[in-house]
Amino acid sequence: MMARAASATFRRSARAGSLELSEIVRISEKARAMRAAGEDVLSFGTGEPDFPTPPHVIEQTCAAMRQGAIRYPPTQGLPELRQAICDDAGAQTGFSANTAEVIVSTGAKQVLFNAFLATLDPGDEVILPAPYWTNYADIVGLVGGKAVRVDCGAELTLTPGRLRSAITPKTRWLVLNSPGNPSGKVYSRAELEALAEVLREFAQVWVMADEIYQHISYEPFCSFRVAAPDLSDRTLIVNGVSKSYAMIGWRIGWGIGPVELIRAMVAVQGQSTSPASVVSQIAACAALSGPQELLGERCESFRRRRDLVVSAINAIEAVSCRVPGGAFYIFPDCRATYGLSAPDGTTIADDSDYCGYILDSARVAIVPGRTFGLGGHFRLSYAYAEDDLVEGCRRIEAATAALAPC
Ligand SMILES: Cc1ncc(COP(=O)(O)O)c(C=O)c1O
Repeated sequence: MMARAASATFRRSARAGSLELSEIVRISEKARAMRAAGEDVLSFGTGEPDFPTPPHVIEQTCAAMRQGAIRYPPTQGLPELRQAICDDAGAQTGFSANTAEVIVSTGAKQVLFNAFLATLDPGDEVILPAPYWTNYADIVGLVGGKAVRVDCGAELTLTPGRLRSAITPKTRWLVLNSPGNPSGKVYSRAELEALAEVLREFAQVWVMADEIYQHISYEPFCSFRVAAPDLSDRTLIVNGVSKSYAMIGWRIGWGIGPVELIRAMVAVQGQSTSPASVVSQIAACAALSGPQELLGERCESFRRRRDLVVSAINAIEAVSCRVPGGAFYIFPDCRATYGLSAPDGTTIADDSDYCGYILDSARVAIVPGRTFGLGGHFRLSYAYAEDDLVEGCRRIEAATAALAPC
């Protein structure tokens, strides 16, 4: 007779620790469950552009699949896609790079992951200007690094002074995300040059310039590599097709950086996903090599929606919002609601309470600012249909107006 197996106990590694799905995913899933239960919920939680993949991309990808182009690509990425990325950097962004300096990964997120895993030892520090995209801090923690949050004041802008005071001998990276998620901040060339001036004094600090929202910018966009070409030997540019071409599900992002770093990142990638899906790489190549007019048209559509939500949200008494220069988020200040009482008698104590109240009473999903390292705010993604945005803002206004002094 077989011995009874001892009951299994699950134990997480110290590295995976208390890692959970992000708050953005948690709130969006709650909204989805409420909708599935028949409730009329509007979810402005995730940053997913609502445009289709360009039709010529679909056609070219299908044709390549029919021709049997589906083989194991090189771990670093298809040479023709890496060339298209270099051509694009030259034509649209204004710097030159060669294919050895490029890695293609499964989304920009994997580029970040590869770079942090390839470079951070325990305790190494990464400077994150707050508010920041929440995944930076999670990935840095997961690979054993230390995320160093830098307060960027009411202007949500990293200044040379703030940067200088955050740098220590353990600093390995500064993450500079422009246009920024969730701040919408677009750093001008002069601002980038001023930051570069500080960085020249600290050779140990590398720059991870996450420029994934490059083509969704209502102000002149400048790449860090254009503003500080002399620092390109310690700059990693991160970009991809997810946001600009609305190709989130294809999962293609890339990094452009010094060959030694790229080689280390390729080695990491080779032990995880291996190359990104070849089907998706073909699609990304078609997107970069095809007509580019859609980028401007889509950006214009986002600008209209930005104007719509900014004026609707600023009409609410207890909430105020800066006009973002890019990406598709607003990040309003909701601190004036603190201490107010909801109709059910509960008191709003922080941004989580406010967002929870808005979801439960107004049926609108928004994400608390503390998720992005800056409480007192919330993030609303406006990459949604205009009618839904109008209705969502109306509901937020009505629910906020229903808050009363205790
Ligand atoms: C600032 C920023 N960087 C990177 C990413 C990840 O992009 P991808 O979908 O290509 O992994 C996102 C996605 O929301 C983002 O907002």
